Amino acid sequence: MKILGIESSCDETGVAIYDGNTHSILSESLYSQVGLHTKFGGVVPELASRDHVLRLLPLIKKTLDLSSLKESSIDGIAYTAGPGLRGSLLVGAALSKSLSMAWKVPSIGINHMEAHLLVNLLEEEAPKFPFLTLLISGGHCLLIKANKVGSYEVLGQTLDDAVGESFDKVARLLKLPYPGGPQIEELAHLGDPKAIKFPRPMTNNKQLDFSFSGLKTAVFYTLKKEKNITAAFKANLAASFQEAVAETLLIKCKWALEVTQLDHLVIGGGVAANSYIRNRLIKGLSESKIFFPPMGRCTDNGSMIAYAGYRRLELGESELQKIIVRPKWDLSEI
Ligand code: KG4
Ligand code: ZN
Repeated sequence: MKILGIESSCDETGVAIYDGNTHSILSESLYSQVGLHTKFGGVVPELASRDHVLRLLPLIKKTLDLSSLKESSIDGIAYTAGPGLRGSLLVGAALSKSLSMAWKVPSIGINHMEAHLLVNLLEEEAPKFPFLTLLISGGHCLLIKANKVGSYEVLGQTLDDAVGESFDKVARLLKLPYPGGPQIEELAHLGDPKAIKFPRPMTNNKQLDFSFSGLKTAVFYTLKKEKNITAAFKANLAASFQEAVAETLLIKCKWALEVTQLDHLVIGGGVAANSYIRNRLIKGLSESKIFFPPMGRCTDNGSMIAYAGYRRLELGESELQKIIVRPKWDLSEI
């Protein structure tokens, strides 16, 4: 089976083709809308959905051309059905359903977070079920026990801001452009992670939920109190904030590994592209085997949707030609 994957849940338009015979991605294309939203300091939903309308068809054509495949070679279409921005989801869903009718192949709506989780299985050295997963993206922070494809237990989640969201908000406090995660990481290279002691939220007892809004507020007040905001101070602040996030994630993963008695930990989502957090987790959890997607597949992409679609269609799942998207969609409801 060759599956066309379409990602349009937020501000990236991603398309890819996964081939079940060779267990590989044959081609992938990505269009980032970052330039469109930067001047607003965040994603503007209406602009995002309009831009997906413009980009999707040319990107699908490009992705087919890159793999030298004709549309008749495609056996199924997978699209992100949620969670995400309603308008953006609807563009991908409507287009996928239309192509599915025109090409007479099945289509399947994919949970975006499941795709972030499963994308690790594309790698040569892949984790084995059951495994623990930490999903850290712009909209979510989840600790999950993945039993098999489609069976997920949510062990912990954020009670307020997601990890990526807190990076983006702290970046805004520092007047850095959107998206803030990569900007904070770059600035943090110049700073001392021990310079400012920020809180490690909800780490005083062994619960697995997260909370990052207090950490962002602590950054806000530290900035407000400082009389002399130099470049060096900003770098120290970024480095100390990043360290507080990294240590919090590390503590929670340690507990979750203990509780579940699992030894494979899979990390996914945009914040998994942060090298400092990667190294901190690898060093701090040396007894466990940790899996990260390649850098380009941490943030939103079409490959993860194509692969998740393959795994779902392979299980014999299919759906009606109704267009349904779920802007809020818990993994445990799958
Ligand atoms: O998974 P993703 O592309 O979209 C969602 O599903 O939300 O994640 C985007 C988030 C943004 O908040 C962005 O700032 C963050 O991932 N991010 C990073 C890095 N690269 C992306 N955060 C920290 N360090 C990075 N290098
Ligand atoms: Zn994502």
